[in-house]
Order: sequence, then C-alpha cells, then structure tokens
Amino acid sequence: MGDQILVRHVPENLKTWIESERQQRYMSQQEFVLSVLQDAAKSKKPQPSLPLTPAATPERIPFSFIDLFAGIGGFRIPLDRFGGECVFSSEINSYSQKTYKAWFGEMPSGDITEISPASIPDHDILAAGFPCQPFSIAGVSKKNSLGHEHGFKCLTQGTLFFTVATIIEVKRPPVVMLENVKNLLSHDQGRTWQVIKGTLEDMEYSVFHQIIDAADYVPQHRERIYIVAFDKRVFGENPPFEFPTPPAKPRPRLIDILEPVVNDKYTLTDHLWKYLQDYAAKHKAKGNGFGFGLADLNGITRTLSARYYKDGSEILIPQKGKNPRRLTPKECARLLGFDEQYQNHIVVSDTQAYRQFGNAVVPKVADAVTRQVMALLAWHVKQRGCLLKAKTAA
Ligand SMILES: C[S@@+](CC[C@H](N)C(=O)[O-])C[C@H]1O[C@@H](n2cnc3c(N)ncnc32)[C@H](O)[C@@H]1O
Repeated sequence: MGDQILVRHVPENLKTWIESERQQRYMSQQEFVLSVLQDAAKSKKPQPSLPLTPAATPERIPFSFIDLFAGIGGFRIPLDRFGGECVFSSEINSYSQKTYKAWFGEMPSGDITEISPASIPDHDILAAGFPCQPFSIAGVSKKNSLGHEHGFKCLTQGTLFFTVATIIEVKRPPVVMLENVKNLLSHDQGRTWQVIKGTLEDMEYSVFHQIIDAADYVPQHRERIYIVAFDKRVFGENPPFEFPTPPAKPRPRLIDILEPVVNDKYTLTDHLWKYLQDYAAKHKAKGNGFGFGLADLNGITRTLSARYYKDGSEILIPQKGKNPRRLTPKECARLLGFDEQYQNHIVVSDTQAYRQFGNAVVPKVADAVTRQVMALLAWHVKQRGCLLKAKTAA
C-alpha cells in the first residue's frame, strides 16, 4: 500500500503508447512506467512555468478532498464547485454540524483528535481552517529541531496543527490548503509560523503563503493567511504556484448587501447603545482606539468576529432617527460572500449563526485560491499525463 501511486484518467493515446513500448522491451506495464519515471527523475529538467493566467478558467479535473475543521464549509463551497468529491469532513461543534448537514447534505464526523488518520479516505486535497494554538517552545530553529525524532512536528504535539500534520504524514495528500488568522505569522514572535512551515517542509512539501484581504471580494476588511503546500514527491521541487491577483475594482460596498427591511429586534436598546458610547469615550480618554464601529454604508466593514453576537459593536449600521442596529444573520452571510442558497437557509439561532459566520472562511477568497490550485493541477496533468493521488513513498 505504502509505495503505490494511483493514476486516474490516463488518456487513450498514452495507454496505447505504454502498451506498445513495454511489449517491445518485454517489460511489464509497471516496470516500464517506473523506468520512464526514473529516467525523468534523473534528467531533472526545469519545469516550465504555469501557462494559465489567474483569470483563465482551469479545466475541470476529477479530484477528491477532505474538509477538516469544516465549520460551515467556507472551503467546501469552492472545492465542490470545481468538481471535487468530498470524501471526509470533520467538525466538533454540533450547531456547525447542523448547518453543514443542511447545506451539504452530510453530517461531518466529530472531534478530529479522536479519529485515526489511517481511517480517513485517500484524497487529493486536504483543506483545513484549523484553530491557532500556541506551541509552548522557546527559540525554535531548524538546527535545534533536527535533534528531535520527527523534526519540527514533535514541537506541535498536543495541538490541532499536530493532528493535521499527522494526517498529512499518513495520507500524503498531493495538495494541502490551510487558512488561519493573519496573526499566525507574528504569533509568539514568529515561532508558531516557523514551526508550521518547518513541519510541512520536513514532510517534503513546498509551502506558499499569502495574507489576503477579503475586501477585494466582499465589503469586509478580513485579512487571513492562506497556506498552500504541494507534495514535492508529486510536483517536484518548484511547483509554479501563484496566489490570485485581486479582481478588478470597484470593490463591493456594504450598502449593496443590506436588507431593505429589517426587524426592530436588531436595533440596539438604549441601554446597550449608551454602554457602547460610554465605553468608547472612556477608552478614547485613555488614548486607546477601542470602541464600536459605525459602518460607512458606501465602504467596507471591520472584520466580523465570532463574538459579534455579544453586542455587535464592531459593525453597527447607522439608522435615521433610531439607534444603530446589528447586521442580520442573512447580511452576515452576504458579508462573507455566501450565495443566496445559503443566506436563505440559516437553520440555527441568531447567536450560533453570528458565531459561525464570524469563524468562516470567505468562500469567494477560497474560490480564487482554489482556482489557482486547479490551474496548477491541470498544468501538472498536462505535463505528466497523470497524477493525482500519490501515497507515501518509502
Ligand atoms: C476557524 S473555524 C473554521 C471555520 C471553517 N473553515 C468555515 O469556513 O466555517 C475552526 C473550526 O474548528 C472546529 N474545531 C475545533 N476543534 C475541533 C476538533 N477537535 N475537531 C473538529 N473540529 C474542531 C471549531 O468548532 C470551528 O468550527
């Protein structure tokens, strides 16, 4: 099992060529294909650069994926859209599971730390918006990690990233797509990021990362780090991956996603509105910038957080002759760029919906990143005539 490569959708002309060449050499199909691959590996030809521009629509190629820390499926939406087959999903929160089931017809498995990596089906893409946790380590460097049995990976023990890394190690998906808060880069003076990148590189993955602000796609300032890693055993040392360029302006505006009529229950009570104003005044006097955010209807909002349900203070919508109001859950869905089919099918309480949208990946950003991954996969299939699932090589 451990040293196999599964090649799907081999074009007819390639199959005919393999068959006639191997017969002439009195070789089995396996011997012949391996000898061709060995020759190619020895020649170490530089790879041509990616021929597809970011705007080009990559061909649909069949692939499978898993959706970890799935939440409400911010990653799943584009992966489904590009024709992927979801073969496993995991989400611990029962309310998020409920939304996920309603939206994708599938109940995710629960706590990923309780699931044996070997029991997870093989897949081409592993997607995960894992929660960021501190790795309690001091002065990590490549040098001092080498003394450990598993390099960087052992430094993440007990964290959810360790769980993700173990799944990658066992299943060796050709592509890994991760999303996290922007602060992952600066967390613990950069050590957390160093450990994550080092762990992936130790496992022979090429790692690309970029902070992307969703404001180019939806009317919300939401900076997140996107990490895309490619198995070097499949794609070689330098896969020509590029992150998307933002779409052409004009940027979307808040006013375009607001509902025309909104229930009064979303208007702040006098008590809460006074509290927020007093709180802001107190912090302003101390020279701090904390406070509520009255949104500019023609602009973009601050980042919607998972605690929005508490007081809505980060995004308040001004109203004529009334206290400001919170966004409705439907407006939050739009602010994250979830399509109408999801906006109109919210199956949990307002509190849970705010929490879910505040935690979610912006599907439109994930879509733009996925498109680039698909372009690379399509390019790879064209170059090599094959791929996709590569299992652990000895
Ligand atoms: C940052 S959110 C990811 C949201 C998701 N990417 C989306 O688009 O909605 C992290 C998610 O991981 C889930 N989670 C945390 N610990 C988990 C565990 N041990 N097993 C499975 N899911 C977990 C949380 O409930 C949360 O929904």
